[in-house]
Amino acid sequence: MEETKFNYAHNDTSAPERKSRTAGLNKLRVSAEVEQLRISAHEREVPTASEETLNFILALALAKNAENILEVGCAEGITSLALLNTCSRAHLTAIERDQAFFCAAQTNLSAYEGRRTLLSGDAADICKGLATEAYDFIFLDCAKVQYIKLLPELKRILKKNGVLLADDVLMYGWVNGEAETPKKRRMLVEHIREYLEAVTSDGQLATSVLDIGNGLAMSVKRN
Ligand SMILES: C[S@@+](CC[C@H](N)C(=O)[O-])C[C@H]1O[C@@H](n2cnc3c(N)ncnc32)[C@H](O)[C@@H]1O
Repeated sequence: MEETKFNYAHNDTSAPERKSRTAGLNKLRVSAEVEQLRISAHEREVPTASEETLNFILALALAKNAENILEVGCAEGITSLALLNTCSRAHLTAIERDQAFFCAAQTNLSAYEGRRTLLSGDAADICKGLATEAYDFIFLDCAKVQYIKLLPELKRILKKNGVLLADDVLMYGWVNGEAETPKKRRMLVEHIREYLEAVTSDGQLATSVLDIGNGLAMSVKRN
């Protein structure tokens, strides 16, 4: 089968699409603009959070009354836009290393210039320059192999009681053994398992791995 244009493992066309047991029950409600951008992204095979994942992210951000949001890997800024629409008091910082996606995110978030900061470059470099305990809500959605490398910096910049959500941690059921991992994805799966082991055994974090979308790990920083 043909690979997707962007060839991201979380969007692996050679693997059957993974549906959580609750996927059909969760209904995403977003603005017509976000809806349209999501349709266009799917048509062009541009990555964006699944419907069920976005639905959960928005509900949680609302419950937390998030004020300082960080999205690591924002692609065209579609989830960023939905977060800004939902959290009326929030400032959002988003990191993206792909120049074309970064430019699209600038356009898509142009209505929110006063409430957003877009940073172009590699998350590993950029996170080092972000202030300690600056964010109360972090959505981690960049290259999955980076998750474990980014974790120490993300913990540092996360506020106490802040939430760190990491997307795609079940990866088609490869990570929890639900489905067999293709050979070319074994290393990636090991990196994600390492991330999950790190966040679930860290005394500074309370972590729950959720069967939402392609898997979400929710970690809360203890006081
Ligand atoms: C799954 S997509 C993000 C989708 C977006 N969060 C959304 O829901 O609309 C992952 C993005 O992370 C970006 N990315 C991957 N590794 C990165 C890194 N190390 N630093 C910055 N961006 C990265 C990719 O270019 C891609 O646009």
